[in-house]
Amino acid sequence: MTASRPTKIEESLTTQRRYDRQAALFDLMEVPVELLAFRKLRRRLWGEVDGAVVLEIGVGTGKNIPYHRADARTVAVDISPRMLRRAARRARRLERDEDLVLADVQHLPFRDGAFDAASATFVFCSVPAPTSGLQEVRRVVRDGGRVHLLEHVRAPNPIVGRLMDLANPIAVRLSGANINRDTVSNVAKAGIALDDVESRGFGIIKIMRGSAGQGSSGQGERQPRAGGEK
Ligand SMILES: C[S@@+](CC[C@H](N)C(=O)[O-])C[C@H]1O[C@@H](n2cnc3c(N)ncnc32)[C@H](O)[C@@H]1O
Repeated sequence: MTASRPTKIEESLTTQRRYDRQAALFDLMEVPVELLAFRKLRRRLWGEVDGAVVLEIGVGTGKNIPYHRADARTVAVDISPRMLRRAARRARRLERDEDLVLADVQHLPFRDGAFDAASATFVFCSVPAPTSGLQEVRRVVRDGGRVHLLEHVRAPNPIVGRLMDLANPIAVRLSGANINRDTVSNVAKAGIALDDVESRGFGIIKIMRGSAGQGSSGQGERQPRAGGEK
């Protein structure tokens, strides 16, 4: 008997369960990387996000909330109820008025062009079909609206990249995150026109800036099968 491939819904539920499971310890586990690098990168990324209505994808425990613009309305989504609950707690503590929505980026409950800009930090490593998720981001951001992403990706060094490929199944099981994704290509495939990709940490960390819309259909209009994306 052959095992059948999980459906998209099953994959999303697995991702949700993985993040629900680690929500309580998530911030604690990430203290070292936050202090070493991520906090500074978050502040920089969000300092560039502009617009009256902004979407944050995969808000997690709300680490970016302190950097959300006070003069914009930010709608933040996540697939994990437990991560969202922590984000809500952080928003209350910081006295920030945030719209927190339980949603899968692969099927966003927003109309076309609803947002002036969108941003995500360390999210598309976990989304089961990242190009589909990025296509949704492109759909809900208005024509010419900006997309700001901070992601970790497969190392450009072939030996390190190969080691990441080998370790990936364990990383996914433990954390829900793929460590060997080619997110820069996925963004381009989704039709988000990148005008800047900045590399940090030996090319493993990427800061991407691009525009949605502009009539580009992207190369990734085809909806990939579950498990079929890198
Ligand atoms: C590594 S955490 C990063 C959280 C936060 N952005 C940060 O920088 O701390 C990835 C987050 O993406 C969320 N996520 C994963 N897949 C998602 C999906 N399909 N739709 C929405 N959120 C998703 C997870 O629940 C988790 O909160």
